[in-house]
Amino acid sequence: MDKTQSASNREASEYEGKVDVLSPEDLSELLAAGTKEVHEKAENTQFVKDFLRGHIRKELFKLGAVALYYTYTAMEEEIERNKEHPLFAPLYFPQELHRHEALGRDLEYFYGPGWQSEIRCSPATRRYVDRIHQIGQEDPVLLVAHAYTRYMGDLSGGQVLKKVAQRALKLPATGEGLEFYQFEAVHSAKAFKQLYRSRMNELDLDPDTKHNVVAEAVKAFRFNMEVFDELDEMGKSIQDEVLDAGMPVHGAGGDLSKCPYYAATTAASGGTEYACQVAMAVLRHPTGQVLFAAWVALLAGLAAWYFM
Ligand code: HEM
Repeated sequence: MDKTQSASNREASEYEGKVDVLSPEDLSELLAAGTKEVHEKAENTQFVKDFLRGHIRKELFKLGAVALYYTYTAMEEEIERNKEHPLFAPLYFPQELHRHEALGRDLEYFYGPGWQSEIRCSPATRRYVDRIHQIGQEDPVLLVAHAYTRYMGDLSGGQVLKKVAQRALKLPATGEGLEFYQFEAVHSAKAFKQLYRSRMNELDLDPDTKHNVVAEAVKAFRFNMEVFDELDEMGKSIQDEVLDAGMPVHGAGGDLSKCPYYAATTAASGGTEYACQVAMAVLRHPTGQVLFAAWVALLAGLAAWYFM
C-alpha cells in the first residue's frame, strides 16, 4: 500500500467510533434528508427488488455492469478534469473510490478479451453520462452530487449486493466478475464514509449552491432509476428469448395453427402465441401432463353426471 492510501485510511480511522457533531445546514445532512424520499423509491424499483431477492440472470447482470462502466468512466473522467477545483478537490480519492478499472476487469471476465467491442451504451445510460459530462464542464461543483450518490451508495450496500450476486450467479468466491463491489483500499467503509461526509461539510458553499447540489443528487438518483427500469424492460425480452429457445415447435418453422390450445383461445379471445407456448410448456412437463389428465377426467365426470 502506498503512502496516500495509508494517509486517507489513517484519517478515516480517526472517525472510527466517533460521533460527529453535525448541523442541519451541513451538506451531508442536507443530502441525506433531501434524497431520503428518492432513495426509498430507488430501493423499490423492480430491478433492485429482484436483485436483492437473488432473482437476477447473468445476461442482465452483465448489462448492469456495462451501464456502470459507462457511468463511472464519465464520472471519473470529469473528476480527473476537476481534481484541483477547490469545490471538488477535498473529495478526490482516486485510489480508494474509483471504479472504472475494476469494472473493466469485470467486463473482461464476462465478455472475454474483446469486451470493448462487445458492449454498447444504452439510451438511459447515455442520458446519465451526458449529464455528468455537461456538469463536469459547465458547473463542476455539481459533481459532488454525482460522486455522493454513487460512491456513498456503493460503500453502503456493496458488500450485501456482492454476496447476493455471487450466490445467485454462482460466481467464484475469489471475486472475479465482482471487483466493482470490492473497495480494496478502504479499510472501514463506515469510517471512510464519515471522512467523506466531513470533507463534503468543509466545502465552502453558500446556501443556494448547497440547494443546487441536493437537487442534482435527486436527479442522479432518478438517472439511476431510469437505468434500472430500462434493465427491467430488457430483462423481459431476455426472458422471452429463453422461452422461445425452449419452444422450437413454433420458433423454428413449427405451425402455430396446429396447436389445439391456440385454436381454442383464438376463438375465445383473440389468442396469443404466448398462451400457446405456455400451454405447450405445461404439457411437456410431467406434472403438467398429470394435471391436464386430471382436468380432462374431471370434465368427463361432470359431463356424465349432467347427462345422466
Ligand atoms: C435495495 C436497495 C438499497 C438499499 C437496501 C439501500 C440501503 C442503504 C442503507 C442502509 C444506507 C445507510 C448506510 C449508512 O448509514 O451507513 C444507504 C445509504 C445510501 N444509499 Fe442506499 N440502498 C439501496 C439502494 C440505493 C441506490 C439505488 C442508491 C443510488 C444509486 C443508493 C444510494 C445511497 C446513498 C448515496 C447513501 C448514503 C446516504 C447518506 O449517508 O447520506 N442506495 N443505503
